[in-house]
Amino acid sequence: MAKGKKTVFFCQNCGYESPKWMGQCPGCRQWNTFVEETISTSAGKGISQTMVKTSGGNEPVALAKIKTGEDDRIKTEIEELDRVLGGGIVQGSMVLVGGDPGIGKSTLLLQVCRQLSNKGHKILYISGEESLRQIKLRAERIGEFNDLLLLMCETNLETIRSTIERVRPEAVVIDSIQTMYNEDISSAPGSVSQVRESTGVLMQIAKGLGISIFIVGHVTKDGSVAGPRVLEHMVDTVLYFEGDRQVAYRILRSVKNRFGSTNEIGVFEMQNKGLAEVKNPSQVMLNGRPTDASGSVVVCSIEGTRPILIEIQALVTRTNFGLPRRTSVGIDYNRVNLLMAVLEKRAGLHLGDWDAYVNLAGGMKLGEPAIDLGIVMAIASSYKNKVVDPELLIFGEVGLSGEIRGVSMAEQRVREAEKLGFTACLMPKANLESLQGKYQIRLIGVSNIKEAMNYII
Ligand code: TYD
Ligand code: MG
Repeated sequence: MAKGKKTVFFCQNCGYESPKWMGQCPGCRQWNTFVEETISTSAGKGISQTMVKTSGGNEPVALAKIKTGEDDRIKTEIEELDRVLGGGIVQGSMVLVGGDPGIGKSTLLLQVCRQLSNKGHKILYISGEESLRQIKLRAERIGEFNDLLLLMCETNLETIRSTIERVRPEAVVIDSIQTMYNEDISSAPGSVSQVRESTGVLMQIAKGLGISIFIVGHVTKDGSVAGPRVLEHMVDTVLYFEGDRQVAYRILRSVKNRFGSTNEIGVFEMQNKGLAEVKNPSQVMLNGRPTDASGSVVVCSIEGTRPILIEIQALVTRTNFGLPRRTSVGIDYNRVNLLMAVLEKRAGLHLGDWDAYVNLAGGMKLGEPAIDLGIVMAIASSYKNKVVDPELLIFGEVGLSGEIRGVSMAEQRVREAEKLGFTACLMPKANLESLQGKYQIRLIGVSNIKEAMNYII
């Protein structure tokens, strides 16, 4: 083998590196995921050096003397995206956009390119997946483009590097990282070492030349970016595009952001002219909600900095065969089981031989504990076949002894409820004091789930 090259084994699932083959990956516990790949040892060094080179010169500088300004960020004027990015694109940053195939990653980035080029920035869009004609067809659906957006179909990183150095765009889109390859490495595009190297090279370009780079990454079945987790560690910002392809709504979530808060979300709707922003997601999520059905409640979850109202539906029916069935969509399954156990023990509901199906409407996924009380109320409402007031908003965390615990940002939730015309809020007693008297909306504080049950009418 040529000098400066060696082979190592990579787990194709999580990117774990090992000098020898193993049956089970110690990193992610998956079986049979190790593949032998050649890496060039000299190129490997390059990546770790990029970090050092970024600020020009190796002399230490006083932190207080380093200047930043608003102009370090370029606004895309797509508000939903700007917020998720923490206020715009940071110069020289690397943003990974992950998501299922067909969810709209290329569409979103083409729209970003359009906005930026219309503002007078020079942009380079590099596609390794589609032909120029295909991109043009998509672009025609989105709108008019000016001459500042340059397209290129290329997968060889060396060519890409020299093109970027020659053209000097302000932002680059790489669609997708799994199609890019480095000639120094013999393994196929999309393999762990290729993806890692390619990202390293791109990072060098981003930090060295101060160019913002967006890279598209495909996602595996279990929702992480295909192949390497390492990719997530290397880039500055990781955005995930979520949503059901059958539903038109798409949620862009930041799971890592060195320049802003994480878990911020942006909501889009796929239309026939590209992605449109959804500025009032609560209203959209509540559209078409039944107002006289048992098992339906509205909860409020804080996503990043924004409150979102959403409907939780539960259906509780008698079990026909021995073991009760429980399923949940959009909510953690184990949390639902736990809350059902709390209901059984602390509120005396005999759920042991009842099936329960709990869904979050609109294809959203929520993990905030503040929706606990809503889940409990939805299940109890369906079990008793009694309706919860459709103009009641519910939030609060439920503890194992059935107590309702206070939650953060209660005020934002109440305000959002008032804005959307709700007449009352069922909330933790602990949060009540600071809000009493400030709002028109009726605030009902409860301290345990037994008290909360009284509001199922
Ligand atoms: P695309 O951006 O190609 O997805 P990805 O890059 O994540 O794989 O998404 C394309 C999907 O969106 C495709 O199924 C067609 C649909 N679409 C619309 O509904 N309206 C549009 O205006 C565009 C451009 C695409
Ligand atoms: Mg695409």
